[in-house]
Parts: sequence; structure tokens; C-alpha cells
Amino acid sequence: MTVKTPITIAKGDGIGPEIMDATLGILEAAGAQLEIEEIKIGEAVYKSGVANGIDDAAWDSLNRTKIFLKAPITTPQGGGFKSLNVTIRKQCSLFANIRPCVAYAPYVKTNFPTMDLVIVRENEEDLYGGIEYRQSQDVTAALKIITRPGCERIVRYAFEYARANGRKRVTCMTKDNIMKISDGLFHQVFDEIAAEYTDIDCNHMIVDIGTAKVAAHPEMFDVIVTLNLYGDIISDVAAEVTGSVGLGGSSNIGEDFAMFEAVHGSAPDIAGQGIANPSGLILGAIQMLVHIGQGEVAAKVHNAWLKTIEDGIHTGDIYRKETSKKKVGTADFSAAVIERLGKTPEKMKVVDYSAAPPGGIKLPPLTKSKPEEKLRVGVDIGLNWDGKPDELAGLMWDCLLPEHNLALQMISNRGTKVWPDGKDGTFCADNWRLRFMAVNGQVKTSQVLSLMNNMNEAGFNFTKSAMLHTFSGKPGFTVAQGE
Ligand code: NAI
Ligand code: MG
Repeated sequence: MTVKTPITIAKGDGIGPEIMDATLGILEAAGAQLEIEEIKIGEAVYKSGVANGIDDAAWDSLNRTKIFLKAPITTPQGGGFKSLNVTIRKQCSLFANIRPCVAYAPYVKTNFPTMDLVIVRENEEDLYGGIEYRQSQDVTAALKIITRPGCERIVRYAFEYARANGRKRVTCMTKDNIMKISDGLFHQVFDEIAAEYTDIDCNHMIVDIGTAKVAAHPEMFDVIVTLNLYGDIISDVAAEVTGSVGLGGSSNIGEDFAMFEAVHGSAPDIAGQGIANPSGLILGAIQMLVHIGQGEVAAKVHNAWLKTIEDGIHTGDIYRKETSKKKVGTADFSAAVIERLGKTPEKMKVVDYSAAPPGGIKLPPLTKSKPEEKLRVGVDIGLNWDGKPDELAGLMWDCLLPEHNLALQMISNRGTKVWPDGKDGTFCADNWRLRFMAVNGQVKTSQVLSLMNNMNEAGFNFTKSAMLHTFSGKPGFTVAQGE
């Protein structure tokens, strides 16, 4: 007797129930061995007063099965509702978002018939920590968090994914020419890990030109690995150029949990009409089957789906007179796939998942980072203040004492040095950063606090401060523009 894998499903909102029913029908007909638990999440749950759209009973199921096939949900606008997707990603530590973007030419109209790339997006860190401040009346700031373990997991996942899926090249995209420390770490970890995978080509591109190339020459790419925000943007660009958002499936992978979905939303404009394309969720479900070790069923469904597309049986979003044969609704599309189970496409490449590891890609334990000597060499102190930089620097003479072992090295505004030797033309907002460096060796916390105490007594208004360290002699902070 085959053991069934327990999974949790949610039918979601809008077109969700229609495309989920279509998808489950295919899975069952294909012989997927699943024990399905259904949970309710989304709009109705939000409206019942659960601010994050998912209640305890739903969590119980997810904690039990750890595998989630999710239809799109509608996030109500306003009213302080938190995004359910972000909540699930974070609470389940789903660190990798995988989005294959494939052209199905000539059957689905696209300008890039040979496009076949996968985006591996870091899913937890970066600006999505949502740590933001209003530092002063006029100045806001968001914190971009990039960690070595976070980089290592996603980069290694990308290479392991490439290996498991017969892909030849991994391209890393960052903006480390500007963000030298944070994006720089991602790039550095990429270079370190790439060296372990001599069987796979690798290269790095600055993300702006990289995104432009995805839009104009997507056939150049195989696997792209990138940070959270860039991955969010690039994956929508890439999905759009394949032909329809209705064709994209995605997986969100963590060490213990995994969530599979379509890339599109709940499409309220066409909900309840039976015309939605279920392909995105079907392709998400195929990734789920591969993940839970049912690669054979996954290939059967995928090949039948490709054959259906090849036969020109298309939903309205991809129906074109020149390339399609028959326009169908959601249920008829699903029936057409079921009819073709066991068949393979004749022109498009036949899919085979026999090389994919059952249970998903397992990463080795994280590398222990080499201990580095960390020295506290200064402090950046943020002040809310109105006036000229020379005047602000002058006022520090009254606050700084020799026993503080600190000297004012520079003042910056919006990241640009304005003292000493500032340019008159530099625009200044009402939040200033004063950099004090140790005169001799390291600075003690008590010395920083004593300086801050004097500044406080002089009436200064603090916004945000940061200690400055060197790591094995290398500065762990950037210089200001113009410094
Ligand atoms: P959307 O992806 O739902 O729709 C964009 C356009 O694409 C619409 O014209 C829609 O009709 C069409 N479309 C989408 N999926 C389709 C399909 N399977 N077949 C045929 N046409 C399809 O994006 P929109 O309108 O920005 O968002 C609607 C709702 O979905 C919002 O409440 C949003 O928050 C939510 N959403 C949920 C996501 C999720 O649960 N993973 C992801 C993105 C949006
Ligand atoms: Mg997005």
C-alpha cells in the first residue's frame, strides 16, 4: 500500500476555489498520493477579525503537514491588515522563493520563444523586514538586513537547484557597486559558494542592467539568484514576458515547511465566471509533487499539461486566433489535461523529474564563519537639527572632552559629507549624522554615553545612533559620499 503524504490546502478568494478544484481534479486523476486537509484563510478570516488572515486551527494543520498548496487570496485594502503571504513566509522561515519562467512558443504568444529561466529569490531578509523609521519631521529610513547565513542558504539552494534540475548556469544579481557592505556580502558569499560547484557556470551582474537583459534577452539566463526586493521585481518582469501571469507557478521553501502557489492574485475581475487559467496553480502543484518525492506523478501531470497547451486548448488569457485551437473555461481545461495524462508533448521538451531528490533539496549545515577580531573604533550619532553644518560642528567643541577619546571626523546629511569642507550646494534635510572616531585604539561604551550625555545636556535631539567596528582590521561601515 502506498503511503499518502498529508498536505494542507486553502481554496482562497476570487478565482481561488475554481482553480483549486481544477488542480485537485488533475492531481487525483494522475494518482497523486495525498491526504488533503483543507483550511480557511484570507478575506473571510480577515473580516472575522483575525488581523493576519490566518487563525490557530489553520496553523495546527500547517504545523502537522508542513506542506501547503495555496490558492490566491484577497488582502483587504486599508484597515491595518497584514499580508498573509509575508506572515506565512516569515513564520515558517520559507527562505527561498522559486519561480520558473518558461515560454511555450509557438503555442503561447511571446516575443522570446526560447526563454526558460528560474528565479531563486531570497524570501525573508532585505528591506522586507519592514523595519522603518521616521527619524525626523522630514526624514524617513528603512533598514536593509542581509545576513551571512541568509546569503549562504539562498545561494547554496540556487546551486543545488541547478544541479538537481539539470541547469547549467547560475547568475547572481546585486547592486554591490552602491551597497558595498550588504549587497557586497551577498556577492561575496556567491563567489565563495560558486567555487564549490565547478560543474555549474556562474556569473554576476549588476541588477539594473541584469533586469534590462531579462526584459530584452531572457534567453540569456538559466538560474538567477538574488536578494528579496530585486527578486520580487525581476520575477514579475520575467513572468510577464513569458506571455501571461496565469502561467506562473511558484514554490516557497524552508527547512521544515514548503508552500506552493500560483504567482498571480485572486483576479476578482473574473472570479466566479469559470474562465480563469488554472495553469499557475497546476504548475505550483507539480513543484509540490516533486518536493514530496512524487516526481513520477509530477512529470505525468506536467507532460499532460504541456500536451494540452501544445494541442491549442487554451483559456481566454492565452487564447489567440493564430496560435490556439479551442477556447475553454477552467473546468474544461482541467478535463483536457486529465484526458492527456500518460501522453507527452510532441514538439516541446518532455519533462522528467527522476533526478530530483525526494523530500526536496536538503542543504548541508551552515558553514561556521571564521572568527574575526572586532574592535569598536567610533560611533555615528544621528541628530534632528536645523542649521548649518559648520555651526553644528562648532557646537560639538562644548560637548567633546579629551577623556571621551573621540574626535569628530565628519558630518553627513542624506549620506553625503557636509563637514569638513562641505559644498555649499549640497541640499540638507533636518536629520544629521555625526561621525566620531576613537583617537587612540578602541572607544568604550561609557565614553560614548558620556559624550551623548553632554550632547543631551546641550539640548540636542537624538534620532538614531550606531557603533562603528572594524573586523580583522577592515572597517565594518562605509565612508560618506564625498568623504
Ligand atoms: P491578479 O494577479 O489577481 O490579476 C491581474 C490581472 O491578471 C487581472 O486582469 C486578472 O484577471 C488576470 N489574471 C490573474 N490570474 C489569472 C488567471 N489565472 N487566469 C486568467 N487571468 C488571470 O492581481 P491584482 O488584480 O493586482 O490582485 C487581486 C488581488 O489578489 C488583490 O487582493 C491582491 O492583494 C491579491 N494577490 C494575492 C496574491 C497571493 O495570494 N499570492 C498574489 C498577488 C495578489
Ligand atoms: Mg511581487
